[in-house]
Amino acid sequence: MGTEGAIKIPLPRPVLKGRVSVEEAIYSRISRRSFRDRGLTPAQAGQLLWAAGGPGAAGAAGVSRAAPSAGATYPLELYLAAGDLEGPGAGLYRYDFRAHALEKLQQNDLRLALARASLGQEMIVQAPVSVIIVAHYERTTGRYGERGYRYVHMEAGSVSENIYLQAEALGLATVAVGAFDDVAVKKILAVDGAPLLLMPVGIR
Ligand SMILES: Cc1cc2nc3c(=O)[nH]c(=O)nc-3n(C[C@H](O)[C@H](O)[C@H](O)COP(=O)(O)O)c2cc1C
Repeated sequence: MGTEGAIKIPLPRPVLKGRVSVEEAIYSRISRRSFRDRGLTPAQAGQLLWAAGGPGAAGAAGVSRAAPSAGATYPLELYLAAGDLEGPGAGLYRYDFRAHALEKLQQNDLRLALARASLGQEMIVQAPVSVIIVAHYERTTGRYGERGYRYVHMEAGSVSENIYLQAEALGLATVAVGAFDDVAVKKILAVDGAPLLLMPVGIR
């Protein structure tokens, strides 16, 4: 689902062979809440978004995606709230997984507003970017009814873990932030859907 008229910024192709093994990333992963005062490159941001929800190998049901989805209903959208992102710069972006590109939705640096809406969690201002996982429950409840809600939350967990592990492997720092004011965050982002997790990411 694209956003009419939004500027599309292609991201560098994701790298499929990193220097850190998946086992090493699992072993060393922790929530990291402090970041160096440095921005992220489009390659780093693109690699994280790809790991969260990018396209995978061709499977039986077409192209697979990085995280599993109940009935391949894919209820989650990924946004990037950038303050310090080389190239595209500050703003709010939607990740277009088909094109592996960013769509610019807002020009402003939303980090301070997001931190205030998250019980003042400072690390959201300090991190150069935050990945935001937003749920569209109807895509999954449309098929599974009430049970769909739990599936959507399970999926957010998978996506979040992928972001943790990819960040770990890239030498980046991240933490899942679930403590925020739902209404306030939704208003700041001005997007459809329900924000479930904010993941500030930076250099460690
Ligand atoms: C659903 C969820 C919500 C979380 N929300 C926050 C949060 O709002 N702020 C925060 O600092 N950490 C948050 N965390 C991170 C946990 O505090 C952290 O995972 C836990 O202390 C275990 O530490 P570890 O991740 O380093 O293993 C959250 C984690 C999860 C899974």
